[in-house]
Amino acid sequence: MTFIDEKAHAELARIRKAREKQVYPYFREFETGGLHTTIAGQPIVNFSSNDYLGLTNHPKVKEAAHKAVDSYACGLSSSRVQATTVDHVALENRLARWYGFEKCLLFTTGYQAMVGTIAALADKDTTLVLDSYSHACILDGTFMAAGVPGRAPEVRFFNHNSVKSLERILKTRERKNAIVLIEGVYSLDGDKAPIKEMVDICAAHGAYIVLDDAHGTGTLGMNGRGILEEAAVEGRVPVVISTFSKTFGGIGGILLGRGEVVEYIQHTARSFLFSASLPVPIVAAASTILDMLEDEGPKLVSELHEKAEWMRSNLKSAGFDLGASNTHIMPVYCRDERKALFMHVALLESGVLMVPITYPGVKLGEERLRLNVTRGHTQQDMDKALDLLKMYGEAFFVLSGEDLGPLEDD
Ligand SMILES: Cc1ncc(COP(=O)(O)O)c(C=O)c1O
Repeated sequence: MTFIDEKAHAELARIRKAREKQVYPYFREFETGGLHTTIAGQPIVNFSSNDYLGLTNHPKVKEAAHKAVDSYACGLSSSRVQATTVDHVALENRLARWYGFEKCLLFTTGYQAMVGTIAALADKDTTLVLDSYSHACILDGTFMAAGVPGRAPEVRFFNHNSVKSLERILKTRERKNAIVLIEGVYSLDGDKAPIKEMVDICAAHGAYIVLDDAHGTGTLGMNGRGILEEAAVEGRVPVVISTFSKTFGGIGGILLGRGEVVEYIQHTARSFLFSASLPVPIVAAASTILDMLEDEGPKLVSELHEKAEWMRSNLKSAGFDLGASNTHIMPVYCRDERKALFMHVALLESGVLMVPITYPGVKLGEERLRLNVTRGHTQQDMDKALDLLKMYGEAFFVLSGEDLGPLEDD
């Protein structure tokens, strides 16, 4: 055994134990795509999906992707520098217009868009200011920027969604420039950033905001343009990053900003320059979903909100703790790892998937099930999920908060 084999074996101890106890919850293998799938032949309703408007499986979206396969195949075998198509540029122009920005650039993933943008924008004259709940792409972009010799920025964190804490950091920063990294909706907690107040504070302190609105696109604002539309602060945030991996039904990163800033990132971001071009079938699928948002955005968004509101009020009246959630993302707090794992297994056996989030994904005591309501869920799906949650929530003491007690071989 090499030292790497030994390290891998030791690091996997917790995962082996979960598998032995048959509660290992990740990498379940779907046999078809969509919110209604099967796992090991059993029909499953997926409540941990980010297909927020339920459009990923729309026949028009699939048809557009099929047509693009005929014209361009599944890949372009090179990076955008030498593999840009008219379809990429047409969609970038449409997205820039729809979101109300001068220019848009499509990355191959949202993760790459954020990492590349942070590394391109930060330098030794910059303080990067991060929310303490920041997504991995923001953390990794920051680590990358901090590791560039001679360019390392100062890195500071503020308390999650706290405008006061953000202001304190901006006042006490050591570098001339500040870039503040905020998410529109936090994906594990389902709470929104107080964006209006944050925009005002940043303006007062000359700080530049980069907003990750991966979970706000298609879900917030009357037309689904995201948290800036909802809070009526469009035009006051210079850079927005979003993704095709949620509402837009595929994969891909969206960068929006002023013309020269986007062009600068286009010629600098290594995650853009040194990774293959976004496949055109994905571009075609996203473009078809953009057609739908342009044609009937307000209807699609309000249907999502109606379903989310129904689920929220029923979960709350049943006594579930949803933490700080005020969106369609509703973490069901179990506050105990075993409770979260047992709930997950029991729900799955009954045909409902809610992935558990446990330490180190969240702090100890904050274990939860990931419950995302989407427009694609039917009333029957939601009735079933709610009934099962109530039944198992009682059985596993999630509702009462009582201790599960020791198990046989604990
Ligand atoms: C807040 C946030 N930002 C960025 C990403 C990355 O997006 P993508 O899936 O396009 O890489 C995600 C996806 O998990 C996310 O939740």
